[in-house]
Parts: sequence; structure tokens; C-alpha cells
Amino acid sequence: MTASESKVTIHMVSSLDGFIAKKDGDVSWFETADHYEHGLKEESAEEFLKIIDCFVMGSRTYEHALELSRTFGWVYGDIPSFVLSHRILPIDRKNIEIYSGDLNNLVNNRLKPNYKNIWLVGGAILAKDFLLLKLADDIRLSILPVILGDGTQFLDHIGQHQVLHLKDVTAYKSGMVELWYEVKKE
Ligand SMILES: NC(=O)c1ccc[n+]([C@@H]2O[C@H](COP(=O)([O-])OP(=O)(O)OC[C@H]3O[C@@H](n4cnc5c(N)ncnc54)[C@H](OP(=O)(O)O)[C@@H]3O)[C@@H](O)[C@H]2O)c1
Repeated sequence: MTASESKVTIHMVSSLDGFIAKKDGDVSWFETADHYEHGLKEESAEEFLKIIDCFVMGSRTYEHALELSRTFGWVYGDIPSFVLSHRILPIDRKNIEIYSGDLNNLVNNRLKPNYKNIWLVGGAILAKDFLLLKLADDIRLSILPVILGDGTQFLDHIGQHQVLHLKDVTAYKSGMVELWYEVKKE
């Protein structure tokens, strides 16, 4: 595999008003009671994980996922996962590696030569850095049928104009709409 065949996708779940997390960390809004008759049935978590070769996440996303794993299990499976942190974090799985430092080096020297479908799964800080450094190829934004009103915002004041190409739109039975964009590089 050459590095050019490899792709970095930012995947984020958001409310209609652009929030990816509530201030109190509550994730119950991920479950919707909505029903959209013409929508597709969501893939199972197992099917979804099959298309991903590697995960990348910021330390705050990792710490929240670790906390949730005590109730719901570890959602990222056995797929190699790189956690960005300047700190020493608790790691209890062999497939998790901590990385600290230059993001260009991580993507172009560590990830792209080794993994084809690289998914950056948050949070807002890391996603913004990837976009500012032009390290993201695609964005897949899943918008849930809810307005949260407050919390952590996706792409809050990113401070850079970025043109996108809409690749696909999918509506699901749960009322979730996925917008799939390519990040234009010129
Ligand atoms: N709705 C969704 O789809 C979704 C997805 C993911 C996360 N979330 C939510 O978003 C929140 C977390 O997002 P966030 O924006 O606050 O934080 P984040 O992006 O998850 O993590 C940011 C942290 O990563 C570390 N980091 C970033 N770049 C680094 C680098 N180059 N080298 C070393 N460390 C680096 C730093 O932590 P250190 O202090 O450890 O160095 C930084 O504070 C959580 O509430 C989570 O649940 C929601």
C-alpha cells in the first residue's frame, strides 16, 4: 500500500446546533426516539468497524471513552488506536498507543504508510488541528435530530476558510443524517 492510497476521515456525531458533547458528558442524546420512514437501517457496530484500519483520538476523547467503557464496553474494538497526549494515561489494551508531538509526522510517517482507512474520532480540538494542518481528507458528520443548546462545539471559530466537496448524504431511520465531505486541498 502506498501512502497516497491511505485516507484520513474525521468522523463526528453532532446535534443540529453543532455540539458534539454536553458539558456534563451525558451521551444519552446519541440514542434518538425519532423515526424517519424513508431512512436506511443503521449498520451494526461490528459492520461499521470492518471498514476502519486505525483510530486516532485526543486524550479527552480517550478518557471519556474509557469512562463509558465501564458501562458499555470499549467501542473501538481491537483496531489499532493512537491517542494524542502529553501525559501518561492509563492503558489496558494492547492495541492502544500514546503519541505526543508533531501531527504531520504522525500522519505521514506513522499512519499513512501502514493503514488505509484512518478515522479521527474526536474530539473538537484534534479535529480542528487536523483541518488547519490539511491532514484530513474527508469529513463524515452525523447530525442527530436534537438541539443541545450548549456544550463542546465542532469547528468552533476554526479561523480558516475551507472549501468542501459533498460526496454523499444518507438519512437513517433514527432521524440521523450523515453528510460526507471531501476536504479540498487547493
Ligand atoms: N460527538 C462525537 O462524535 C464526539 C467524538 C469524540 C469526542 N467527543 C467528545 O468531545 C470531548 C473531547 O473533545 P475535546 O475537543 O475537548 O478534546 P480532544 O480533541 O479529545 O483532546 C484534546 C487533547 O489531546 C491532546 N493532544 C492534542 N494534540 C496533541 C499533540 N499533537 N500531541 C500530544 N497531545 C495532543 C491534548 O491533551 P493532553 O493534555 O493529554 O496533552 C489535548 O488537550 C469529550 O466530551 C468527548 O466525549 C464527541
